[in-house]
Amino acid sequence: MTVSDILISPKGGTADSKMEVKMSLLDNMIGVGDMVLLETLNEDSFIENLRKRFDHNEIYTYIGSVVISINPYRSLPIYTPQKVEEYRNRNFYELSPHIYALADEAYRSLRDQDKDQCILITGESGAGKTEASKLVMSYVAAVCGKGQEVNKVKEQLLQSNPVLEAFGNAKTVRNDNSSRFGKYMDIEFDFKGDPLGGVISNYLLEKSRVCKQPRGERNFHIFYQLLSGASDDTLMKLKLDRDFSKYNYLSLDSATVNGLDDAASFRTVRNAMQIVGFMEDEVQSVLELVAAVLKLGNIEFKPESRVNGFDESRVKDKNDLKEMCELLGIEQSVLERAFSYRTVEAKMEKMSTTLNVAQAYYARDALAKNLYSRLFSWLITRINESIKAQAKTRHKVMGVLDIYGFEIFEDNSFEQFIINYCNEKLQQIFIELTLREEQEEYIREDIEWTNIEYFNNAIICELIEKNQNGILAMLDEECLRPGTVTDDTFLDKLNTICAEHQHFESRLSKNSKFLTDHSLPHSCFRIQHYAGKVLYRVEGFVDKNNDLLYRDLSQAMYKATHSLMRELFPEGNPAKVNLKRPPTAGFQFKASVGVLMRNLQTKNPNYIRCIKPNDKKAAHIFTDSLVCHQVRYLGLMENVRVRRAGYAFRQLYESCLKRYKMLCKKTWPQWRGPARDGVEVLLTDCSVPSEEFAYGRSKIFIRNPRTLFTLEERRRACLEDLATLIQKIYRGWKSRTHFLLLKKSQVVVAAWYRRYAQQNKYQKIKSATLVMQSFIRGWKARNILRQLKYEMRCKEAVTTIAAYWHGNQVRREYRKFFRANAGKKIYDFTIQRIMQKYFLGLKTTTMSPMDNTWPARPYGFLEGAHTELRRIFHLWRCKKYRGQFTEEKKAVYEEKLEASEIFKDKKALYPSSVSQPFKGDYLEIQKNPKYQKLKSAVEEKVLLADLVNKINRANGKGSPRLFLLTKSNFVLADQKTGQVKASVPLPDLTSVSVSTQSDGFFALKLKEGSASASKGDFLLSSEHLIEIITKLHRIGTTAADRDQINIDISDEFLVQFKQDKVCVKFIQGGPKNGNSAACKRKNNRLLEVSVPSSP
Ligand SMILES: Nc1ncnc2c1ncn2[C@@H]1O[C@H](COP(=O)(O)OP(=O)(O)OP(=O)(O)O)[C@@H](O)[C@H]1O
Ligand SMILES: [Mg+2]
Repeated sequence: MTVSDILISPKGGTADSKMEVKMSLLDNMIGVGDMVLLETLNEDSFIENLRKRFDHNEIYTYIGSVVISINPYRSLPIYTPQKVEEYRNRNFYELSPHIYALADEAYRSLRDQDKDQCILITGESGAGKTEASKLVMSYVAAVCGKGQEVNKVKEQLLQSNPVLEAFGNAKTVRNDNSSRFGKYMDIEFDFKGDPLGGVISNYLLEKSRVCKQPRGERNFHIFYQLLSGASDDTLMKLKLDRDFSKYNYLSLDSATVNGLDDAASFRTVRNAMQIVGFMEDEVQSVLELVAAVLKLGNIEFKPESRVNGFDESRVKDKNDLKEMCELLGIEQSVLERAFSYRTVEAKMEKMSTTLNVAQAYYARDALAKNLYSRLFSWLITRINESIKAQAKTRHKVMGVLDIYGFEIFEDNSFEQFIINYCNEKLQQIFIELTLREEQEEYIREDIEWTNIEYFNNAIICELIEKNQNGILAMLDEECLRPGTVTDDTFLDKLNTICAEHQHFESRLSKNSKFLTDHSLPHSCFRIQHYAGKVLYRVEGFVDKNNDLLYRDLSQAMYKATHSLMRELFPEGNPAKVNLKRPPTAGFQFKASVGVLMRNLQTKNPNYIRCIKPNDKKAAHIFTDSLVCHQVRYLGLMENVRVRRAGYAFRQLYESCLKRYKMLCKKTWPQWRGPARDGVEVLLTDCSVPSEEFAYGRSKIFIRNPRTLFTLEERRRACLEDLATLIQKIYRGWKSRTHFLLLKKSQVVVAAWYRRYAQQNKYQKIKSATLVMQSFIRGWKARNILRQLKYEMRCKEAVTTIAAYWHGNQVRREYRKFFRANAGKKIYDFTIQRIMQKYFLGLKTTTMSPMDNTWPARPYGFLEGAHTELRRIFHLWRCKKYRGQFTEEKKAVYEEKLEASEIFKDKKALYPSSVSQPFKGDYLEIQKNPKYQKLKSAVEEKVLLADLVNKINRANGKGSPRLFLLTKSNFVLADQKTGQVKASVPLPDLTSVSVSTQSDGFFALKLKEGSASASKGDFLLSSEHLIEIITKLHRIGTTAADRDQINIDISDEFLVQFKQDKVCVKFIQGGPKNGNSAACKRKNNRLLEVSVPSSP
């Protein structure tokens, strides 16, 4: 970091930061930012300075307020929005040289001081003029006002560029995007500085390019863009083919250009045309004319011999002619004739002469060139219509001139002559305006005016444009003169008239100086332009100046139905035949340059001088000779000289004082008083010789750059000292602050430490005190305790003695009452305890009625109560138990109860039946489908259904039968078939007989004489005997209309089988036949049933 970096960083940024902000042009200069400051001014130092800056990417350098711009041939990061902001509203010399500084200066003096501006951009082809003009426009667009309407205007102004470039630019050997016309654009602003619109003027389009392009060059971009970018459909409508090689007017060797995308550019151009305001049909018409030019180039001619011996031209292949005529709506025969004949009118007389092939080609090319150049002019008029400012108020104007620079080729023709003439005029206006401005500034600043020596090129301008004997006037004269006119006659004329002119050189002139100059061919003349000598070949001067288009052709064009075409050739209107010759090209150009110059003179000029660093279109190459050549013909040295003629450097007093105030003790650090006095004191103090500077009203003028550099040098040295001083003070301040901080910290640390130590000490003392205290207290307490214990023992001893004594006394008194009552009380208590224990013991008994257990009686005296309690308890728990029964269960138990009443202790079978529940339907007659028939035979509800054995009287054996009992009948049915064998109504049953033993035999005895009794009684056996009999008995008891069935329980009874009565006798037998009872017939009247004895 340099010392000045430390000191000069107004926005607080360090020099390391990318966006280094400079205070002045003079800071960190590479070479010198302003050529005026070159110490020794000569070409070498000038070019060396440019080179040095170019090598460091500094492509801009000033000469006073003029900007020199060197084409970098690569994009540099110096056109960003940040840069725009950086240069916005800054003074011209405040930052390093930049085109934005110039644009800003111009824009601000336009806006704030109401001065119309013009920006003159010059330089040779490829030096970056068009780019510079676009940069200026984009800068102004970026910094001026915003808003919907304003933005639209801006957009239209900016978008006019791509349209004009497509039609007016072409690839040349010098520049891939070379402008082939001169352009001047006036941008109009309102009082606020918002753009309102603009006007474009064009100068001399290089129309010869339409028909023929030099080697390595192309025709105008639009032809290639149209063929590459238009849709197939469009091309078909235009009757065009995408192939460039199909067109004679398109050179083939460089049809495609590296880095140029014609198709994309075509889209851009169409889009731009739309933005600028072209209607769709206008665009279409324009493209049709472009197509017509291409078609025109393809028309070829052949000779046809005529009787008079002359050759007459005829169109060779009529296809292209036909297509072109179709495209433009021209009658084919009219155009065809115009290519073969030419009508000459003189003094109301019309003559038709034939054209030979060469003349036909000339006519064709003239038509193509005219068509294209008129189309180009129409485009500019149309764009002007769109971008024209709407408001009628007074406008402020900023003109941007992007015009071809001085051209010195090997072969210079009419075009170069015209271009160089234009540059002479610009140089003149430059000198005039610069000097005028300089002079005005001196007057403004009240500085004495010293005469400035400089070369005034007015003399050259005169040579060219003088009305009577200027070169242009003579050329016109030649063109209009009757008789044979050739380029040579024109040269002859020049040789006679300009011979004496000191800037005109010709071999054949009367000036003998050039008679032997072999560098000057005979058919040439040379002019010493301000920027160097240029040799012009006269060939083609007359033709080009005449710019003739046969009237037949313009009339043919006028006859077209294509409206734009008619508009372009108004002179073809037969109603307005004008026999006067149209003005020559030279005349027109002179006139328009005159208008331009007058226009520029009313404006405040700003110059951008573009320089091309090499002719390889390559970055990083700086060819000294090439640059030197340009520096010469741009007159840059002149420029510096004029600028330095008076005072080389000037600066506002305030800025000067601010920059150098450190050089003098009186002005440092602050000067209180007028800035001018400060500067005076400063300069006197620095002992600058008084002839080296002059005091203006607001500025100090320094004559010599040396003086300025001495000041700068001293400033730099002073800054170093100041930096050291600042460093010293800063370091001292820093150390002191550091020390104070340390000191403060030390106090804090010490305080904390002391506190900590005291706390520790206190804690120790505290705990020691506590220990001591506790020992003492313990000792004291133990003493007291011992004392108290002694006292307690004394008290206890006294109490005990008293108690014993009192006890003794009381016993002695109460002994007599004690014996009489004690017995009863003990007895009552004992009884109470016994009863309590007894009742608690009863608690273990369960609530089941079946449970017969009962605790044993503990004492004999409880006998009665114990039995009674047991009975009561049993009744109570039975009641509880019964209370839980449902109705059905109750019925079952009632049955069981009845069974018990009938059989208990009467029949040995009974006990085994008690635990079996009475199921009733053992056969499940309701569910079993087998008994369906049987069920239907029995109408009533079946109370019991069981399988029984019917005992056969003959052998005592049993055969199985189904036994069904209902409320009114019992039924016997076949076991297998379910067929009812007997159905006996219950009233017919008188009694039932069973044995006392454990067998299942029973006899159903029927009422004698009843219908059922015919077959006799039934002797049956069943496993559910008890249940069957009980049910029978129950039905008997519940039926009100019947007698009760008798139940006869004895081991011998009679059974009536048909006629006979048979005795059935039951005997106890051993278990011979297993566990079941067996029946055996003993004789006719006795059946013996042996029942196994119960276990
Ligand atoms: N400032 C720049 N930064 C980057 N490239 C530039 C700059 N100026 C010019 N160029 C490059 O140089 C080329 C030629 O520049 P430009 O077309 O402006 O030249 P010109 O002076 O207008 O030439 P002509 O007289 O032929 O029209 C541009 O196409 C561009 O590539
Ligand atoms: Mg250009």
